[in-house]
Amino acid sequence: MSTNEAAWLLKPKGDLRVFPAAFPVPSQDEIVINNQAFAIQPLDATVLGEESIDVPYPAILGNGVAGIVEEAGGSVTKFKKGDRVISDTPSYQLKQTKYGGWQKYVVGREATTVHLAKHTTFDDAAVMPFALLTAVAALKLKLGMDKPGTLHSGKALIWSASGSVGGYAVQYAASVGYEVVTTASPRKFDYVRGLGANEVLDYNDDHIVLKLRDLGPYEFVMSASGDVKGANAISDILQPFGGEFASTHPKTEAMQLAPNVSLLYDLFSMATQKKENEGFTNWWYEDYLPLALAGGVKPTPLEKRSGGLYRVQEACDDILGGRNMSKIVLNPQASFL
Ligand SMILES: NC(=O)c1ccc[n+]([C@@H]2O[C@H](COP(=O)([O-])OP(=O)(O)OC[C@H]3O[C@@H](n4cnc5c(N)ncnc54)[C@H](OP(=O)(O)O)[C@@H]3O)[C@@H](O)[C@H]2O)c1
Repeated sequence: MSTNEAAWLLKPKGDLRVFPAAFPVPSQDEIVINNQAFAIQPLDATVLGEESIDVPYPAILGNGVAGIVEEAGGSVTKFKKGDRVISDTPSYQLKQTKYGGWQKYVVGREATTVHLAKHTTFDDAAVMPFALLTAVAALKLKLGMDKPGTLHSGKALIWSASGSVGGYAVQYAASVGYEVVTTASPRKFDYVRGLGANEVLDYNDDHIVLKLRDLGPYEFVMSASGDVKGANAISDILQPFGGEFASTHPKTEAMQLAPNVSLLYDLFSMATQKKENEGFTNWWYEDYLPLALAGGVKPTPLEKRSGGLYRVQEACDDILGGRNMSKIVLNPQASFL
């Protein structure tokens, strides 16, 4: 049998250590995946370096892996050994080490796993589901935007469109037919236009509120960065009538939102792990995500790094330090060099 190895977090906000892990055992409706690629998300970096979460230690963090099915539980019908898959592993919900993405062999649930088309690389697949789900759950589940293929007119405003979540939000809103107005830093303007944005404005422009108000009104508004400045600007843009907007971060005391404005926050990236979202979840794994992975959505630009599990810490440090321009992808099978 193959041996397993993981990047272990020994205590909250501690350093990572790479050492062996038990070969994971799947339940009846689960699969073991030979993990070929995972992307580091801001959530992972924050949990590793800044905020402790309530999990048993030592813990294996990371959720979402792309790889090859190694073993299938007794009741699994959709997958067999050798299939190429991407899986949203419920490490932060079920809090068991077998679901942690930062290991060579990881367990995924049949219900939250999809096949990969032959031409989709493990790396491209690894950067997509977490941030794409965040964008689509915010726009569709939370704000009620329709599905692609329906015809709509009107405008959507995506604040901070150049990151992973923002870029996917632009593509989703454009695919549903909305004219998409966005903000980004000037060096990313062309990139954001290439995703389907009709307008891109600098979020640091002194007149950003007036300019965006002039371009409105908006049927849908989302802040992909979830920051205070963006929330306050959106609150002003929505005047005098007010309204609601989805945000990747919750409301904080530093935000000064008008009384007629509501910030709608959720753990959007985990929407498909919740029973009450069953209809959305079925559509997500059976229709939308497979088409997105097969080329229907442009993946976030990625940076593939060598060193596998040994470079997770460095990757997280770079994300927290704002030093990465792309999603960092690692292959846990890689050796140290
Ligand atoms: N609630 C959830 O379920 C959930 C899920 C996933 C992510 N998130 C959160 O959503 C945020 C975005 O995640 P991501 O994966 O898209 O990150 P990302 O790919 O690293 O993108 C972050 C983007 O934010 C922009 N940015 C940085 N500082 C900014 C500021 N002060 N004002 C406006 N924009 C700013 C940058 O754009 P420029 O280069 O153009 O400045 C950068 O491209 C993160 O904070 C993450 O923690 C929440």
